[in-house]
Amino acid sequence: MGPLSAPPCTLHITWKDLLLTASLLIFWNPPTTAQVTIEAQPAKVSEGKDVLLLVHNLPQNLTGYIWYKGQIMDHHHYITSYVIDTETIIFGPAYNERETVYSNASLLIQNVTKNDTGSYTIQIIKRGDRTEGVTGHFTLYRE
Ligand SMILES: *[C@@H]1O[C@H](CO)[C@@H](O)[C@H](O)[C@H]1NC(C)=O
Ligand SMILES: *[C@@H]1O[C@H](CO)[C@@H](O)[C@H](O)[C@H]1NC(C)=O
Ligand SMILES: *[C@@H]1O[C@H](CO)[C@@H](O)[C@H](O)[C@H]1NC(C)=O
Ligand SMILES: *[C@@H]1O[C@H](CO)[C@@H](O)[C@H](O)[C@H]1NC(C)=O
Repeated sequence: MGPLSAPPCTLHITWKDLLLTASLLIFWNPPTTAQVTIEAQPAKVSEGKDVLLLVHNLPQNLTGYIWYKGQIMDHHHYITSYVIDTETIIFGPAYNERETVYSNASLLIQNVTKNDTGSYTIQIIKRGDRTEGVTGHFTLYRE
């Protein structure tokens, strides 16, 4: 498993895949294990429905996760976080009562509105204070 090798497959790359790959390349530092990825289920959600941002290949030995709206990991964009040792959920300024973070790091967003669409970044905090961020997206389906 080579670190930061070329994107695996160019056959079916869409705009969304390119964005996600770009985000991974920016944030991954350094690549040690399988790449963490975020999958939106469904990838296109209609207004008023729920979307689950699933986190795959989560590393071992973490202290917690922080979810941000957008790709900027600062206090203003901080939605919610999960502290593993105490099984505590903490809410940030960008929390709007429709987001639920699970112990496996996945984020459920209920009753999605236009404003929810876009990028979400999870910051994974490892023991020893090393962190890494991964961004995923979903888009709103317009009927
Ligand atoms: C987790 O990290 C701590 C602190 O770095 C270390 O002492 C411990 O051995 C690690 N545990 C595992 C299962 O990797
Ligand atoms: C989602 O919308 C439904 C119907 O409007 C409402 O009953 C429910 O409480 C909402 N859930 C959240 C988490 O806002
Ligand atoms: C994480 O937990 C949620 C809620 O229990 C579940 O729906 C989801 O499938 C889990 N995600 C993964 C990657 O296992
Ligand atoms: C979306 O955001 C705009 C600007 O922040 C706000 O005026 C509007 O009320 C929001 N709409 C919803 C449905 O939350």
